[in-house]
Amino acid sequence: MQDDLLRVETELLRVVSAEDDFLTDVASHLINAGGKRVRPGFCIAAAAVHDDDSSAASIDVIRGGCAVELVHIGSLYHDDVMDGATTRRGVKSINAEWGNLRAILAGDYLLGRASELAAALGTEVAGLLATTITELCTGQILELESTYNADRTFEAYQRSISGKTSSLLATACRIGAIVADVPRPTIDALTEFGRAYGMAFQIVDDILDIIATDEQLGKPSGNDLLEGIYTLPVIYSLQDPAVAGELRSLLRHDITIEQRDRARELTRRGGGVELAVNMAETWASKADAALFDLPDTTGAKALRAAGHHLMERLNAVR
Ligand code: IPE
Ligand code: IPE
Ligand code: MG
Ligand code: MG
Repeated sequence: MQDDLLRVETELLRVVSAEDDFLTDVASHLINAGGKRVRPGFCIAAAAVHDDDSSAASIDVIRGGCAVELVHIGSLYHDDVMDGATTRRGVKSINAEWGNLRAILAGDYLLGRASELAAALGTEVAGLLATTITELCTGQILELESTYNADRTFEAYQRSISGKTSSLLATACRIGAIVADVPRPTIDALTEFGRAYGMAFQIVDDILDIIATDEQLGKPSGNDLLEGIYTLPVIYSLQDPAVAGELRSLLRHDITIEQRDRARELTRRGGGVELAVNMAETWASKADAALFDLPDTTGAKALRAAGHHLMERLNAVR
């Protein structure tokens, strides 16, 4: 799989290159910065769940993986504008380097390139990617609608992260499986895996925003509270009478850095982090259960290992 992921790198850079050198530079900035490549990894692994050898992925699977990674990166360009984030993947964000206008346009450009790749893989894949972009925007809009709302519910939070994150992880698996012609019931099981894993993934990201440092994340930590995005640990801690009053009083538009740090401390003290960790574990178990019927191939093993990596990453910081 390592070789296939290297092919993804080459293909990503090839696909985003434009006639205009400046556009090529802006479009390749976050590709060159790295990233975990979870989505292309899922695409490649899902395509290989019935392979008993470790033969290379087909070029279509590589391109499917690139399409999902480009949607992801394009959404990060836009997300960093929305969140006013100045770093990403350990480097300056696009908006910090080139301003919001260019970040928005280059993000659109990446979505366009992703759509071209998907179109070449057939109407089902193209339709699926288009639907996923719609879901992603819907999740982001739901989040925006609940900013600075200390009464944001658990259900509202779940709807938002299901759209903004879990849908693309589900699609990463589904595209790999469709392109590799995996049997339909397996395609659905892999999609379910990606969906459940995606829920755990965003919850972990949201916990890390409360407990990790900028250096550990390669992006600004603690930004959610500043932006009025009240995530699962905060929602849970607002239920704890011991901290709820003070915590709620800090959740304001004009929150200072000191108040933000106090809010993070109260969130931890209120038990919200532990409860959110439990919820992430529940989703990770659901993800694992979705793979129950799969044989122990390299592809299936890689997907099963992803759940453990996720919780390990969290435990390394806790
Ligand atoms: C970041 O995604 C955005 C979320 C959905 C939490 P990743 O954590 O996969 O970011 P990269 O691709 O490794 O940079
Ligand atoms: C991730 O959202 C962006 C998308 C899923 C579109 P966040 O804003 O929660 O992620 P980070 O923390 O900036 O990576
Ligand atoms: Mg963000
Ligand atoms: Mg965001």
